[in-house]
Amino acid sequence: MNAGIAIRNETGADIGVISDVTIEAFKTLAISNHTEQFIVEALRAAQALAVSLVAEVDGRVVGHVAFSPVTISDGTRDWYGLGPASVLPEYQRQGIGTTLVRAGLARLRDLHARGCCLVGHPGYYRRFGFENVPGLVVEGVPQEVFLALPLDGQPPRGIVTFHDGFNAAGHYDRAALAPDETRPAIARGDSSTTRR
Ligand SMILES: CC(C)(COP(=O)(O)OP(=O)(O)OC[C@H]1O[C@@H](n2cnc3c(N)ncnc32)[C@H](O)[C@@H]1OP(=O)(O)O)[C@@H](O)C(=O)NCCC(=O)NCCS
Repeated sequence: MNAGIAIRNETGADIGVISDVTIEAFKTLAISNHTEQFIVEALRAAQALAVSLVAEVDGRVVGHVAFSPVTISDGTRDWYGLGPASVLPEYQRQGIGTTLVRAGLARLRDLHARGCCLVGHPGYYRRFGFENVPGLVVEGVPQEVFLALPLDGQPPRGIVTFHDGFNAAGHYDRAALAPDETRPAIARGDSSTTRR
């Protein structure tokens, strides 16, 4: 456990380093398509980063976790999706990810969230109370890696849809918007109007 971890909300000054931390964290992950930094950017641009926390060690940002609203087909409101979660490789396995997730869940409770869900490794996220909830699914995602944590004790049933930002595959680029566009290009997942 790293004793010197400080957790705080992201500020404007953190935006670049959050992207860097995200890129580095996912760089060697075989199951990643390496778009996680674009997801964070798109969620921020859509004002959907309901909770965005950084972890600092010795004044350096070494970790980040994002939470954004999800929709559930049964009409249940106030549920959030966790992710992406990132810790710089050289700082992993020191308890930083655990501290970030616990702090994020506490913020969600402050927001009167009714639950949180994620696509991730059960072996990691079960420690926080996440588990498979029968009847709560994400289309196209194997049920064993979709995990949920009802904060109000009442698991919903239905199809969960993560924010459009999770489809982001390139930088958010306001200048690429045509005049009659009302939504950011990135939120439509339109990579032809984005740049790296
Ligand atoms: C997942 C991640 C955020 C965890 O952060 P961390 O600071 O390394 O985590 P902690 O030190 O709090 O916890 C380490 C524990 O998690 C386990 N763990 C870490 N990543 C894991 C993974 N992908 N699958 C299963 N277990 C994992 C470790 O084995 C360790 O277990 P132990 O406590 O029983 O020894 C970090 O490893 C990371 O950035 N990974 C790459 C990106 C990623 O996979 N993000 C999550 C998907 S959104």
